Amino acid sequence: MRYQNQSTRISKAIPLFFGFSLGFFLAFLMQFLPNIIRNDSYSEYLFKRNTLDFHHDSSFEDLIEYKFHEVNDTTHKNDNNSIAKQLYNEVRVLCWIMTNPENHEKKAIHVKNTWGKHCNKILFMSSSYDKNLPTIALPVKEGRNNLWAKTKEAFKYVYKNHLNDFDWFMKADDDTYVIVENLRYFLYPYSSYQPIYFGCHFDRYIKQGYMSGGAGYVLSKEALKRFIEKALPNKTKCRQESDGAEDVELGKCMENVQVEAGYSLDSSGKGRFFPMGPESHFSPGLIDKEFWYYKYVDRVGRHGLDCCSDYAISFHYVSPVQMYIFEYFIYHLRPYGITYQNQPLPEKIKNKKNNEEIFINLGSFNISKLEKKNFSTIT
Ligand SMILES: *[C@@H]1O[C@H](CO)[C@@H](O)[C@H](O)[C@H]1NC(C)=O
Ligand SMILES: *[C@@H]1O[C@H](CO)[C@@H](O)[C@H](O)[C@H]1NC(C)=O
Ligand SMILES: *[C@@H]1O[C@H](CO)[C@@H](O)[C@H](O)[C@H]1NC(C)=O
Ligand SMILES: *[C@@H]1O[C@H](CO)[C@@H](O)[C@H](O)[C@H]1NC(C)=O
Ligand SMILES: *[C@@H]1O[C@H](CO)[C@@H](O)[C@H](O)[C@H]1NC(C)=O
Repeated sequence: MRYQNQSTRISKAIPLFFGFSLGFFLAFLMQFLPNIIRNDSYSEYLFKRNTLDFHHDSSFEDLIEYKFHEVNDTTHKNDNNSIAKQLYNEVRVLCWIMTNPENHEKKAIHVKNTWGKHCNKILFMSSSYDKNLPTIALPVKEGRNNLWAKTKEAFKYVYKNHLNDFDWFMKADDDTYVIVENLRYFLYPYSSYQPIYFGCHFDRYIKQGYMSGGAGYVLSKEALKRFIEKALPNKTKCRQESDGAEDVELGKCMENVQVEAGYSLDSSGKGRFFPMGPESHFSPGLIDKEFWYYKYVDRVGRHGLDCCSDYAISFHYVSPVQMYIFEYFIYHLRPYGITYQNQPLPEKIKNKKNNEEIFINLGSFNISKLEKKNFSTIT
């Protein structure tokens, strides 16, 4: 970490504290995990943790209660969430979760129990009906080769049933964790009548790049309209087949109907949408410099403890147990004696010129200072 002036050092201490606490808490939890996991290498552990059958692992049953105490109990009763409430009504977000029958009980239910509650509406998109979540049974086959078909059907369903009830439409996986309040704060200055979408920007394959599927992406109402009305019916604008990389294909449709791939770095140039788990983004040594992520993300130069915005929006590869940990750290745990001061809400964007100008108007990081990576050596 580079040395910064005093105030940025202090502001950085908060996420650092979060990181350390998370580490200790994970270490604590790991005592309860089966030996096989504890003794494995870290990457093996991460893999196993992400594939744990949460429901049928007895070591978790005693540890995890699905319900946290109400936020109006004694600890939180004086919290002031009036701005979050205001944004809940002004920036209405429909979230839809890509899931499948095998994951309803393993993963999707834990999204419902945690961050899903913060969305204005949450829909679980699957291929079979399940009354517990409930899910929407889309007319698609399951499997990786059908993810694109499922994405199209999901957005069609959302368009047909909910277009006018919400402003923004977020797609996430059943192992993505979204801090919905930060999503609303980020979207607040934008009009949902602007054709734009946001996510973790990968600058490849398509002229304007596309948004990573795993980090989740969010379409404005206008973007959704153009996608369904103009792009999908036209085979020159959108891939008609079921297969294909869901996120790249969506990116092509968006570009073909002039929906902008928006920037989402914060005012210090840090990312908000993350296509991997926090442990991967926070520990630069954990992943190889040759890893695909570094080749795809051209404008995000930050790794390690300095990686992530304090107003981060999403992380991918979050296991069920981590979802409850996130929920606890974000919405419940309080470092005693610190009262947070929210950044003031930015001005709404009135005259849209171009993305870059909006970005600068918001007082955000000057992206022209970040050089594009040289991709010529990358296949
Ligand atoms: C806390 O809020 C919940 C729902 O918002 C309500 O059912 C409950 O009665 C409240 N508890 C107290 C102590 O006010
Ligand atoms: C809560 O916060 C809002 C916005 O900062 C402020 O206007 C309001 O007075 C606060 N309410 C209380 C009870 O402190
Ligand atoms: C499909 O898109 C192409 C290219 O923009 C356009 O020329 C054509 O008229 C469109 N077809 C329909 C049926 O809208
Ligand atoms: C952004 O950076 C570029 C290149 O360094 C500079 O020319 C431009 O004036 C900067 N814009 C703002 C608003 O600071
Ligand atoms: C990109 O890298 C290649 C191979 O190393 C080099 O030949 C080329 O000049 C570089 N281009 C730029 C714009 O730096």
